Amino acid sequence: MTRAVVVPVLTIDGPSGSGKGTVSRLVAERLGWRLLDSGALYRAVGYAAGAAGLDLSDVDAVTRCAESTRIRFQPSVDGQDTRVLVNGHDATDELRTETAGAAASAIASIPSVRQALVDLQLGFRKAPGLVADGRDMGTVIFPDAAYKVFLTASAAERAKRRYKQLKEKGLSVTLSGLQREIEARDARDASRAVAPLKPAADAVLVDTTGMPIDEVVANVFAVVRP
Ligand code: DC
Repeated sequence: MTRAVVVPVLTIDGPSGSGKGTVSRLVAERLGWRLLDSGALYRAVGYAAGAAGLDLSDVDAVTRCAESTRIRFQPSVDGQDTRVLVNGHDATDELRTETAGAAASAIASIPSVRQALVDLQLGFRKAPGLVADGRDMGTVIFPDAAYKVFLTASAAERAKRRYKQLKEKGLSVTLSGLQREIEARDARDASRAVAPLKPAADAVLVDTTGMPIDEVVANVFAVVRP
């Protein structure tokens, strides 16, 4: 009799600006595992709904949008970056804005939208392994993951990181405005009824406030390869 091979999963959950995105990418590269950026899926649906002129609180319309939006991840031409194609359009830059984050957070509170994205996320679990970045990776999507990490950092530090990232991209933002937006988004993500932002009971908590990225990566890597 052959035994089914269980593909290992490392879940990295946490609020925006906790370093999840960068850390997940670096750890996935180092392990040679696939990467799921689940936030990009919610951003893509929020973006598609906005582009179609939908009212983001119209549950039926946004759910249909989540069910029908085609989302593809594709390496950039120079291989340095991953582009996100939404219904065939490269929306990577639009998806990174705080507006897209807020739209994602709004539609992510709709249970049927979350349901529409489940199979897509489960499909990322392929050999030799998966690093899954999000809010509910360890609690809802991959509760059986062998390795779970929850990254946190103070709101002030997370705002500073986002500020730096967005400024480097030439976007016009203020630090105080960003901190307010981040705090509002965290409150909404943590208080929603379905899949709220919270650590899985078996997750390793890492507070990244004041911690250089290579140290965060080392901490996360140690969870998988102690
Ligand atoms: O990680 P991010 O900032 O790209 O996520 C954008 C929004 O998407 C976030 O505010 C909440 C939502 N999200 C979610 O509800 N569940 C996930 N697994 C990932 C993101």
